[in-house]
Amino acid sequence: MKSEYKVQLVDKRVLGETCAVLTFSCPEISKEARPGQFINLSCSRFLKRPFGVMCTDEEKGTFSIGVRKVGKGTEDILASEVGEEFTVLGPLGNGFCFDGIKRLLLVGGGTGIFPIYFAACYAGKLGIPVTVVNGYRSKCDAFLYDDFSKVTKDFYVTTDSGDLGVKGTVMASLEELDDSLLNDATCLVVGPGIMMQKVSEWAKQKGISCYVSLEQRMACGIGACLVCVCKIKAEQEGKEFVHKRCCKDGPVFRAEEVIW
Ligand SMILES: Cc1cc2nc3c(=O)[nH]c(=O)nc-3n(C[C@H](O)[C@H](O)[C@H](O)COP(=O)(O)OP(=O)(O)OC[C@H]3O[C@@H](n4cnc5c(N)ncnc54)[C@H](O)[C@@H]3O)c2cc1C
Ligand code: FES
Repeated sequence: MKSEYKVQLVDKRVLGETCAVLTFSCPEISKEARPGQFINLSCSRFLKRPFGVMCTDEEKGTFSIGVRKVGKGTEDILASEVGEEFTVLGPLGNGFCFDGIKRLLLVGGGTGIFPIYFAACYAGKLGIPVTVVNGYRSKCDAFLYDDFSKVTKDFYVTTDSGDLGVKGTVMASLEELDDSLLNDATCLVVGPGIMMQKVSEWAKQKGISCYVSLEQRMACGIGACLVCVCKIKAEQEGKEFVHKRCCKDGPVFRAEEVIW
């Protein structure tokens, strides 16, 4: 059974009009959380809202999430002040497994750049070489640009507008990557569905093993309500697919198992 904690908002770093990085005090989650896992955060609505963990600081006993305004729940969360109290359930989900990883290629888009940041920092601590390719809408939307630049020299950016990095989607940058960054690499993608699907197809073509973090609408977050099921191929079980719970069996899945 996952634990629920009373946590305090200890820092708020505003990123433009619709986004912020929120840091909460919670020694347990700061110690336990791994990249790819998420937490469920209380808000003004009945159901808690899921957010990927963006980083942890074990010394300070804190963890951070990046939040983008989407509806009422995120609007109220973003309006909160330092010192306010929340209830958090977590860390939840399977997370990404770093065992045997020789080189990591991380691809982020939308709010997926927040959990990608955690994976980049974590890999850095394990001494795993990391390449990051983030896709943004435009330069003013390029959140955590300086943070990523400090984590790896192999940080590439694409923008739809073309005012920062390569113009186009992450695919434009992936196509240009040097082979030395792809040899023995494992890829993790977090972002909009269409982006994860395109990157998965590209990785398959290149023979690169690829993982995606699925973002389904969630309710309980702990595998009980089945709101978040997704279709995962199950040929070995003699079926075309089985339903898996994104919150408990995922959110990280092998890309080639996912039915998009
Ligand atoms: C595993 C996981 C990790 C996530 N990580 C982050 C993160 O790091 N940062 C971040 O900002 N957001 C993240 N999200 C999305 C975040 O949970 C939603 O934006 C939030 O729950 C919306 O709540 P709301 O009350 O503001 O909007 P609602 O009023 O609940 O919804 C407003 C609109 O957004 C749509 N919507 C809401 N949630 C989702 C969703 N999960 N997928 C697709 N459409 C949705 C609704 O259909 C509706 O149209 C994550 C979601 C999941 C499942
Ligand atoms: S959100 Fe309830 S089972 Fe996944």
